[in-house]
Amino acid sequence: MATVLSVNLNKIALLRNSRGRNYPQVEHYARECLLAGAGGVTIHPRPDQRHATYQDVASLKAVVEEFPGKELNIEGNPVADFLEVVLKNKPDQCTLVPDQPDQLTSDHGWELTTQSKQVVPIVEQLKAAGIRVSLFMDPVIEQIELAKQVGADRIELYTEGYARAFQSGNYASVLEQYKQAADYATSIGLEVNAGHDLDLQNLAAFLTIPNIKEVSIGHALIVESIDQGFTNVIKQYLKIAQ
Ligand code: PXP
Repeated sequence: MATVLSVNLNKIALLRNSRGRNYPQVEHYARECLLAGAGGVTIHPRPDQRHATYQDVASLKAVVEEFPGKELNIEGNPVADFLEVVLKNKPDQCTLVPDQPDQLTSDHGWELTTQSKQVVPIVEQLKAAGIRVSLFMDPVIEQIELAKQVGADRIELYTEGYARAFQSGNYASVLEQYKQAADYATSIGLEVNAGHDLDLQNLAAFLTIPNIKEVSIGHALIVESIDQGFTNVIKQYLKIAQ
């Protein structure tokens, strides 16, 4: 089965918020992703709502419902406000991430040796609402075993380590670590997603790992979209300004 691409739209929301009006529209780009064949869209509303907002969850739920079979994934730290919005809007998947409010971006997975107690009732609540639950995890076997024990349906492997190694040109052993983590997860009945710093250069090698259900990609996808459109747009302005 092909790996599903879920496009993370946080950067579109960040651009929108920088001007205080609804441009660019997150909903428009969600439709573009889904029309282009992406299997889903993701947002990661943080407590300060500096990019995706809680209102975006409801808007995107409505957009994704226009496309049968496509999925909405909401990521975030399960603080009370986040959970309330997720339970109200019932996305297809909720990816729980242990990020702090002041973090620039997610930079570690759950440490379930100490955090299981916190996570178990949240997983139960989300699953009871019919939401598939994924946990953002480092590629560490002991932690992945605990992810199964707390009742997660999936894990999302945090791939920044892989992306950095790929960039250095020396990534075989790191990729093997991710493969072992993914294989172990699959062997104990967890499905496997992956995300963070994946891009057009490093994705193909990562997907030599079998059974990756979904990749969630945002930052690089937006930068690559700018790269591939920037010169073209400048030429159009210059034509007008001649
Ligand atoms: N997965 C999680 C949990 C994230 O926090 C992010 C970034 O918001 C991503 C995936 C996507 O990472 P990137 O923007 O680097 O593609």
